[in-house]
Amino acid sequence: MNKPSDLPLSATVAPSAARPMDAFWMPFTANRQFKKAPRLLAKASGMHYWDADGREILDGVAGLWCVNAGHNRPKIVAAIQAQAAEMDYAPPFQMGHPLAFELAEAVARIAPAGMGKVFFTNSGSESVETALKMALAYHRVRGEGQRTRLIGRERGYHGVNFGGISVGGIVANRKMFGAMIAGVDHLRHTHDPARNAFSVGQPAHGADFADDLERLCALHDPSTIAAVIVEPIAGSTGVLIPPQGYLQRLREICDKHGILLIFDEVITGFGRTGQPFAAQTFGVTPDLMTVAKGLTNGAVPMGAVIARDAIHDAFMNGPEHLIEFFHGYTYSAHPLACAAGLATLETYADEGLLTRAQQLQGLMAEQLHGLRGAPHVIDVRNFGLVGGVELAPRPGEPGKRAFEVFLDCYANGVLIRTTGDTIAMSPPLIIEPAHIERIVATVRAALGRVA
Ligand SMILES: Cc1ncc(COP(=O)(O)O)c(C=O)c1O
Repeated sequence: MNKPSDLPLSATVAPSAARPMDAFWMPFTANRQFKKAPRLLAKASGMHYWDADGREILDGVAGLWCVNAGHNRPKIVAAIQAQAAEMDYAPPFQMGHPLAFELAEAVARIAPAGMGKVFFTNSGSESVETALKMALAYHRVRGEGQRTRLIGRERGYHGVNFGGISVGGIVANRKMFGAMIAGVDHLRHTHDPARNAFSVGQPAHGADFADDLERLCALHDPSTIAAVIVEPIAGSTGVLIPPQGYLQRLREICDKHGILLIFDEVITGFGRTGQPFAAQTFGVTPDLMTVAKGLTNGAVPMGAVIARDAIHDAFMNGPEHLIEFFHGYTYSAHPLACAAGLATLETYADEGLLTRAQQLQGLMAEQLHGLRGAPHVIDVRNFGLVGGVELAPRPGEPGKRAFEVFLDCYANGVLIRTTGDTIAMSPPLIIEPAHIERIVATVRAALGRVA
């Protein structure tokens, strides 16, 4: 791993007359507030970022849940550089290049048994659109084209494209956009603080929330339902851990009615829960899995849908000269992303990172739950190397208290993330115990300072 001292800091990138900040319309950001007091990152290595002034910041969120092997890992950097010099781009339609096949095989090797087919995209959002279309088309090629209904879940996050926000259940991400795709319904969410607040790991209560799927089956008739999509651990809504038995029950109901189960593993994939995928950790195999982020350690945009062999095989039944699935992206299996993905999976394997969360989750749980009783804290949730600390909202100002904690932590050299009034932590899987203690101590001190 690079040592910080190996990294000369570039010239300042702070805003100036020569470097105005007007043109960049920033995503999911309070643009006007940010541009008045920008937070600009300039360098990264291992567990740390450095800001434009050379200040070191401990990364408590793996960038954005994606840099699972830590930043700027030499093997990944070298692979991208070498591939850029060798072949910049190759068309993915009716053409191929060897790294795409190698990476698909490498992903299939760590996927749950029977999930051996990999379709590449460029992001989590595109993986979700791809999986939803795959589910609809799968039923159609099998003569069940009446299965057109898609079921998501309240508080779910499945990216920002139209399919994803339609099955998603985060109100702020939906309300500005009017009509969404038709024929979608939602399961109730699994958050139940009255029974489950401060659960360590999976909450004991709430397997029965999965029975809500039976209600929707009764309402719509199960023969109209193509697929159910859920995040095994809901991340963006504020870290909701699945109640014990909940995912198993969803699987049973899907099987009973011939409905496909899609796990959106965009944040839970690649070691976050102590196994390569949450499907393996929770012992429930879905039909389709969406991934992105940790697939390339965040270094080059890439996503994928991992499908059960039987789903793929159902498409392979027409004349061989015909395209089986009319879907794909110009940058599907981009050579740079494939090079980054292969080097990432090698790094995970070399360093045992896909199971490392098992060793650290005890300390993570102990540290996080030590925040019980700290000012404003109304719940702590944890699993693997994921943590959520929910704060009481300040009356009339939802989200503001948590955001102030985020700013305080950043000022004190720790990057966390907040969503609503929940602080989320998802550090790189190379994290050491002292880093976990530092992150939690910094949050604790910030909680003592915010009003
Ligand atoms: C569960 C889940 N699905 C989909 C996405 C969207 O991924 P992207 O931002 O790469 O489009 C995210 C992003 O955080 C996510 O957490």
